[in-house]
Amino acid sequence: MARLHSSSRLLAGAFAVLTSVAVSAQAPAPTPALPAEASGAEVYKAACQTCHAADGRGTPQPLLGFALPLPDGHDLPDFTDCPTNTAESSQDWEIVASGGGRVRGLDRHMPSFGEALSPRQLTAVVAHLKSFCRDAAWPDGTLNPPRAFFTEKAFPENEFVWAGNLNTGRGRALGHDLVYEHRLGRRAQYEVRVPVAFQPDVNGSRARGLGDIELALRRVVYAGSRTGSIVAAGGALTLPTGSRSNGLGNGFAIVEPFAMWDQLIGASGFLQMHGGIEIPTDSVKGDREAFLRTAVGFTLAGDRGRGRSWSPMVEVLAARPWRSETEWDIVPQMQVSLSRLQHVRASVGLRVPLNERTDRHPQVLTYVLWDWFDGGFFKFWH
Ligand code: HEC
Repeated sequence: MARLHSSSRLLAGAFAVLTSVAVSAQAPAPTPALPAEASGAEVYKAACQTCHAADGRGTPQPLLGFALPLPDGHDLPDFTDCPTNTAESSQDWEIVASGGGRVRGLDRHMPSFGEALSPRQLTAVVAHLKSFCRDAAWPDGTLNPPRAFFTEKAFPENEFVWAGNLNTGRGRALGHDLVYEHRLGRRAQYEVRVPVAFQPDVNGSRARGLGDIELALRRVVYAGSRTGSIVAAGGALTLPTGSRSNGLGNGFAIVEPFAMWDQLIGASGFLQMHGGIEIPTDSVKGDREAFLRTAVGFTLAGDRGRGRSWSPMVEVLAARPWRSETEWDIVPQMQVSLSRLQHVRASVGLRVPLNERTDRHPQVLTYVLWDWFDGGFFKFWH
């Protein structure tokens, strides 16, 4: 259905009769004449309620025209369940409502309303869907900007990330980070970061092994859907698990309080800031360091938001060790969605030192992330 609706105007015209018949065969036709200024609740009642039910929990099986669970393993979403309701952005849901389930790799029984409803009606009905979550403590997915390489964001995630970096300096050190992020309740998230490094050692061969494992905890302290801003604070503990003799660890623990603030700019732009202080437990071997990281960018997606989404961004990193000069880096990068559901994404970037360049070299960066809460890694690609 979605396919037909999003094909060329000409074809759409020719198939109009066919598609409306097909829609009504699956579910009642979605378009009783609605006044242009209909409220979200009115649009919902007329166009969505037959499947999603008046209370937003989904129409029970006997009254539905199709079998549950769906072939993709899903049941109808329960819009009153706040984790489900707040996982995606309003914009993303407007795209699903306008283009149909297919545009995000979801079941085709979710029809496309792009022709039946105006953009204003789509915005209104999605706002109504969002109102089914009654607990305002859940920050909405609209406040979740794309992931940058160094500037951590405030929005709590359920993600698994593999990140790789290649140092272009002498020896070509190669590093990997495995990051696991898990939401705790409405506003918190814990995180485990395990670095694995391949480093040239003194003999000129490669040392490899575990680096210093980091554990972190953060909590959202402010989330304003109206202001488009979200603030979180937390702390990290880096443990000396890496072998210092191989150059893979610090040899001491680091405690790091931090805070982040993310601001949406217009419909598709964002600014993210992340600052903190690294405090080594050994003040002789280690130095305190304050850091401030900033990322700015925007998201573009072809075919009225239905296609692959691209997020070009640039980070500026400032790190100020107590005993030496501030180090500046710039990190241009591009994130792209890989799966249709956009729960698997990848990014590539380049970290370029702007000063202190004798022993700091450009680094090539990449990551692949999987939002595991949304579904299996290999699902929802078509
Ligand atoms: C013919 C039945 C039907 C109608 C009518 C219908 N939907 Fe759906 N909708 C579904 C099904 C089935 C799914 C689940 C698809 C899946 O998970 O694979 C779904 C999923 C969704 C989702 C995705 C939820 C998520 O968890 O990502 C949104 C958003 C949505 N519908 C909005 C709407 C809106 C808005 C309307 C009315 C304008 C509407 N639906 C009308 C059947 C319907």
